[in-house]
Amino acid sequence: MDPFTRESRYFFHTYKRIPLEIDRGEGMYVYSRDGKRYLDMFGGLAVNALGYGHPGVIQAIHEQSKKYIHLSNYYLQEPQLQLAELLVKHSGYNKVFLSNSGTESIEGALKLTRKWASSRGKSTMVSFSNAFHGRTMGALSMMDRPQYRNGYEPFLQDCRIVEFNNIIELRNAVDEKTAGILLEFIQGEGGIRLVSSDFVHEIKTLKEKHGFLLLADEIQAGFGRTGKFFGFQHFTINPDIVVVAKPLGGGLPLGAILGNTTVAEVLEPGVHGTTFGGNPVACAAGIVVLREIMERGLMKNAHVMGEILRSRLLDLQREFPSLVKEVRGFGLMIGMELTRECDSIVTALREHGILLNCTDKTVLRFLPPLIIEKNHIDEVIHCLRVIFSKMV
Ligand SMILES: Cc1ncc(COP(=O)(O)O)c(C=O)c1O
Repeated sequence: MDPFTRESRYFFHTYKRIPLEIDRGEGMYVYSRDGKRYLDMFGGLAVNALGYGHPGVIQAIHEQSKKYIHLSNYYLQEPQLQLAELLVKHSGYNKVFLSNSGTESIEGALKLTRKWASSRGKSTMVSFSNAFHGRTMGALSMMDRPQYRNGYEPFLQDCRIVEFNNIIELRNAVDEKTAGILLEFIQGEGGIRLVSSDFVHEIKTLKEKHGFLLLADEIQAGFGRTGKFFGFQHFTINPDIVVVAKPLGGGLPLGAILGNTTVAEVLEPGVHGTTFGGNPVACAAGIVVLREIMERGLMKNAHVMGEILRSRLLDLQREFPSLVKEVRGFGLMIGMELTRECDSIVTALREHGILLNCTDKTVLRFLPPLIIEKNHIDEVIHCLRVIFSKMV
């Protein structure tokens, strides 16, 4: 039985799998079982920031595995402590909670917000249209898109979803009862759409007036991908809580909630926790990830290579105006919106040995590993030009 038939027989049908059997990965490339090489331009959806087979990550996993793979959060664990120190040092936040995934970090951040708000007579959460925060019930309560929500009702109470970048709607939704606003400053799954500076300014004004918490979902944009440590740093505002995951564990499941002094003392022993969160092997990998990004220049590379990629995509927009509507994003988080659905282009790119993701139907999403070099960009642009030429 071929693997796709086996998958269909044994699994719930939750994933539309890419018709490829990957055997192994190395650097920017993965290799299929039939020996073909593919340039990976979406890096496990922003997880594989260091590419595949990073020797430091492999060594850290190996060494920590020999000591202990799991203890339980009853014990202090050196890899957790070192990772938390690095997170605090590079983020400027004061406190850390380690989890297993993005959506679980969102749930924890919602709980932290409600806990903070409960003694202040506040409870309402505000979030935005077209956002993606995960698949658990709290995260879904903060999202409006029917493909993720339909059939899962009822959701959490006191959640308001405001049209993204609509200042009037925001003003009408926020009041003294608002506990927190959850915002993806750069919507990833929603098509690399940026919050406007005016909208951020309005959030700041409302925050000063009503005293709610601002929560940044940095699960996709965080850790240097946009050329800054966090995506929100492209705007002039400081969230109280930041939620991260994806690249943190070097490919192992690891997420985190970061909080500033406002929320530093809200949680007490027993009010929140996890069995696996902050797994020591994942943390050992995470220490290497943060050091590579911050101390060995990968965040800078994301900025420099991102500028090159963006300008080359803008060239394509000028060459193919009937096909390319817009290029947007920061660093290595770039969307190229087309005038038509992009599935067939993703298939054509795959035939040329390039893996790219299409999101929101018409947006080619570039989330390559942060180790990308100029020759990889040349390869992608060349193939896109060949494919686009045949389409016009
Ligand atoms: C912005 C954002 N938030 C939350 C999530 C959910 O993360 P996870 O799949 O690890 O639960 C994702 C995943 O794509 C995301 O991109």
